[in-house]
Amino acid sequence: MSLDPVLSRIDTDLTEATDRLKALLRIPSISTDPAYKADCDAAADWLVADLASIGVEASKRPTPGHPMVVGHVDGPGPHVLFYGHYDVQPVDPLELWDRDPFDPQVEDTAKGKVIRGRGSSDDKGQLMTFVEACRAWKAVNGALPCKITFLFEGEEESGSPSLVPFLKDNADELKADVALICDTGLFDSRVPAITTTLRGLLGEEVTITGPSKDLHSGMYGGPAMNPIRVLSRIIAGLHDDTGRVTVPGFYDGVPELSPEIAAQWEALGFDHAAFLGDVGLGTPAGEQGRSALEMIWSRPTCEANGIKGGYTGDGFKTVLPSKASAKISFRLVGQQDPHAIRESFRGWVEEQLPPDCTADFQGHGASPASTMSITHPAFEAAREALSDEWPDPAAYIGSGGSIPIAGYFQDILQMDAMLIGFGKDDDAIHSPNEKYDLESFHKGTRSWARILNAIAKV
Ligand code: BES
Ligand code: ZN
Repeated sequence: MSLDPVLSRIDTDLTEATDRLKALLRIPSISTDPAYKADCDAAADWLVADLASIGVEASKRPTPGHPMVVGHVDGPGPHVLFYGHYDVQPVDPLELWDRDPFDPQVEDTAKGKVIRGRGSSDDKGQLMTFVEACRAWKAVNGALPCKITFLFEGEEESGSPSLVPFLKDNADELKADVALICDTGLFDSRVPAITTTLRGLLGEEVTITGPSKDLHSGMYGGPAMNPIRVLSRIIAGLHDDTGRVTVPGFYDGVPELSPEIAAQWEALGFDHAAFLGDVGLGTPAGEQGRSALEMIWSRPTCEANGIKGGYTGDGFKTVLPSKASAKISFRLVGQQDPHAIRESFRGWVEEQLPPDCTADFQGHGASPASTMSITHPAFEAAREALSDEWPDPAAYIGSGGSIPIAGYFQDILQMDAMLIGFGKDDDAIHSPNEKYDLESFHKGTRSWARILNAIAKV
């Protein structure tokens, strides 16, 4: 089986491949919002049909939440499992989009052509790079170079609640020699990457209740404790003046960076000024004495992701609210234990409550950090294949994001996960006007064709 005609086929099929991606992007598969349940189902159906069109035996598998899509196709080389997610983030604030998030189009920008739409980069465009590489292999050679299992999830953006039971129940069917995950980014537009560390994620929603009902702030303000005042003091106290998180025991299990890794990262020549400059910032916040790259790739953090309470509509209302709440997330590294941190955080909040106030907590996922082992020979084969496609050689990098399944592949299926993706920092994932560079889509597809070819030979 030969590679060059596969690459040519990818080049000539780019317009059709883009049209197929646009069809998938038109389905508003927002997993976190129950109103879009039927759309998540429709996206799964679309993927089953698309896999079937390239000779993959695929089916939609029910879960208590949104369905999984599983497919199998035989081939001579090693057995790989490919993972991507078809669910997307909510689109709000909708008024900040320049076009309908679910009416994707190719746009010409100063930096080249992009496909604009929710999910274009996270993760439908990335998922389709692998499917399109398989389509081209099949069209040119009549078969695929490796045995492949496909696993597409519909709940990644809402904390993967059905994933662990599904992996456990279907372990025999899903186990492969190595897992390939396409849900990460390039190091920069010239340097492709294999991501070797992901941060863990702990989500906590805290609601402070004060008075038994909303009150007139002129009649009750003063004697009545305002829950917004309590909540904001708690949030302000999450970090000390040096940027460290103050929750007791938070840094237990956080390793210092080894000099070797520090040197490797230094050699990447990360442009710290441009990284912040591109989003309108100039001064690093966060822990003093740490570089931005270190903060993202190897340090734990705490962020308030949303605050609710009182009157937030147009105009003004003099209300003293009964409740105020915040969504708070912790990114974790090393051996930090998400469950221990959850308990510590809750206790720490309770200790700060004034008389008459109570706190209620709702957890939103708790996954530890994961570090990939890269000793399987498929890693070096893939790194060389990536280096053949992009201007500069591929790098091993860290990531600040979280993809819980990478750790579960190791723990539940005893399978190493190879994280390769083609997203860029300016793709605006989870934000308005999300896009995926056409170059990411095209060269990403070509990269997978090369990687499959290389893995087939190990
Ligand atoms: N694709 C991202 C993860 C990611 C982001 C990898 C940036 C590399 C760089 C993934 O879809 C995601 O957004 N994950 C969530 C976690 C989930 C449990 C909600 C995240 O990181 O917030
Ligand atoms: Zn995401």
